[in-house]
Amino acid sequence: MTDATPVLRLEGIVKTFPGVRALDGVDLELRPGEVHALMGENGAGKSTLMKVLGGILQPNEGRILIDEAPVVMTSPLEAKGKGVVFIHQELSLADELSVAENIFLGELPRKRFGRVDWTRLYATTDAILKTLNVRFDARTRVGDLSIANQQMVEIARALTVSPRAVIFDEPTASLTDAEKVVLFDVIEDLKAKGVGIIYISHRMEEIFRITDRISVLRDGQYRGTLRTAETTEDEVTQLMIGRSLDLSRSPVRHALGKVALEVRGLSCGHLYRDVSFSVREGEVLGFYGLVGAGRTEIAETLFGLRTPSAGSIRVNGDEVRIGSPVDAIRHGIGLVPEDRKGQGLVLGMNCRDNMTLPQVDDLSTGPFVSDGAEVAIFDQYRDRLDIRTPGWRQIVGNLSGGNQQKIVIGKWLSMRPQVLIVDEPTRGIDVGSKSEIHNLIRDLAAQGYAVIVISSEMPEVLHVSDRIAAMYSGRIMRTFAAEEVTEDSLIQAISGLEPEKVA
Ligand SMILES: Nc1ncnc2c1ncn2[C@@H]1O[C@H](COP(=O)(O)OP(=O)(O)OP(=O)(O)O)[C@@H](O)[C@H]1O
Ligand SMILES: [Mg+2]
Repeated sequence: MTDATPVLRLEGIVKTFPGVRALDGVDLELRPGEVHALMGENGAGKSTLMKVLGGILQPNEGRILIDEAPVVMTSPLEAKGKGVVFIHQELSLADELSVAENIFLGELPRKRFGRVDWTRLYATTDAILKTLNVRFDARTRVGDLSIANQQMVEIARALTVSPRAVIFDEPTASLTDAEKVVLFDVIEDLKAKGVGIIYISHRMEEIFRITDRISVLRDGQYRGTLRTAETTEDEVTQLMIGRSLDLSRSPVRHALGKVALEVRGLSCGHLYRDVSFSVREGEVLGFYGLVGAGRTEIAETLFGLRTPSAGSIRVNGDEVRIGSPVDAIRHGIGLVPEDRKGQGLVLGMNCRDNMTLPQVDDLSTGPFVSDGAEVAIFDQYRDRLDIRTPGWRQIVGNLSGGNQQKIVIGKWLSMRPQVLIVDEPTRGIDVGSKSEIHNLIRDLAAQGYAVIVISSEMPEVLHVSDRIAAMYSGRIMRTFAAEEVTEDSLIQAISGLEPEKVA
């Protein structure tokens, strides 16, 4: 990073929505060759600011300057033309189109007479994909890709021009560690070329690993910029949420009840094999492993989204067959899915209804809940999870990414299934709310619920779990009690170095 003139400057940006002053006079400066973190709580205004910069939203007030000259960004394509590329928090790809078409959408290479030059399109795309080390090609249909790979397509899209500035809005939320390494390499390359990078993430370790400066927003206001090398996580947190976090509080361990869920010899094709575990009432069982180890697939099987090829599932001692989510809910099993956008929310519906409507349509035979009671449930979880919205009538699609996640989490917590499975509970959640979600999980257990937490964050599993099942390549390698587990032994187990000891 140099102290050269900024590539980009935002001055006094104001953006309002009905009932919300999302940005209240924000300034930001981006220098060539720097990675600049933009941090703030869920709903602080990060994505909105970037949408203004990327030509997706028009500000009510304020100026954008590129090389100190004011510009107006009226569309994403125009922003891209001016060298500002935006990689979104919400994936904005067309499922039915190929990778190549998505990458060059609106700018497909053409031959004379306007016909699309497919040969050139695929060749150019494959060349970009090669630099990203991905295992799919230009012709692949985007809908057939995993979320992580779709994210890589978004990234590839940014590399089609020679950008001045690239915005990454929570790019690593669904990436594997290997893909993260590729992404960080891409960022290094861009940096070396003098491109300015704005990087949004709630993951402190990434922020401290790759950024040069950190700017903080709070409630739509600019709170300051820190040099990463000269600051600490605590100082950043202070600036973000106005207080320090007490992370020392270790969870209370309490007596466990009877076995609520017991899984024996469960297999599902090549996804996972011969998986056995049980969870007691009052217990939190953590599942730790690399992305792709089979954790999510086990959760999906327990929730009736996948059919096991072998094995048994018992709830309260009785063997059950779970053919669909309706069955799962009937047996008292709930799932907060990893992909909350796809599986957990109706974006066009308001906050209250998203939180309180039964998960599955034909479950409407459940107990009748009055409107007032629904609002009360919503209010309770809004306060507890600190969901930022002007009111329950707000359409969920208008909430910030993290606040949408909180709605899904609140919904499942309020349904209080006997066995609750939460897949990556704090992905995309800010540091303050993260510890509150951990507390809620521990509270549920204390009340006698059985909870399964799947997480890729080691501090998280270590913090919330009573026991931890370490998975590698579709198998449980070892199950640790909280008292005996160490970081080293956990890493060893998920790397496939230590086989499950036969009991
Ligand atoms: N289209 C919209 N209509 C109404 N309100 C909106 C709209 N878009 C954003 N908001 C509101 O503006 C505020 C800022 O949202 P924004 O998405 O910028 O937050 P964020 O900092 O990116 O949070 P997160 O970390 O959760 O992604 C929030 O209160 C959000 O609900
Ligand atoms: Mg956001």
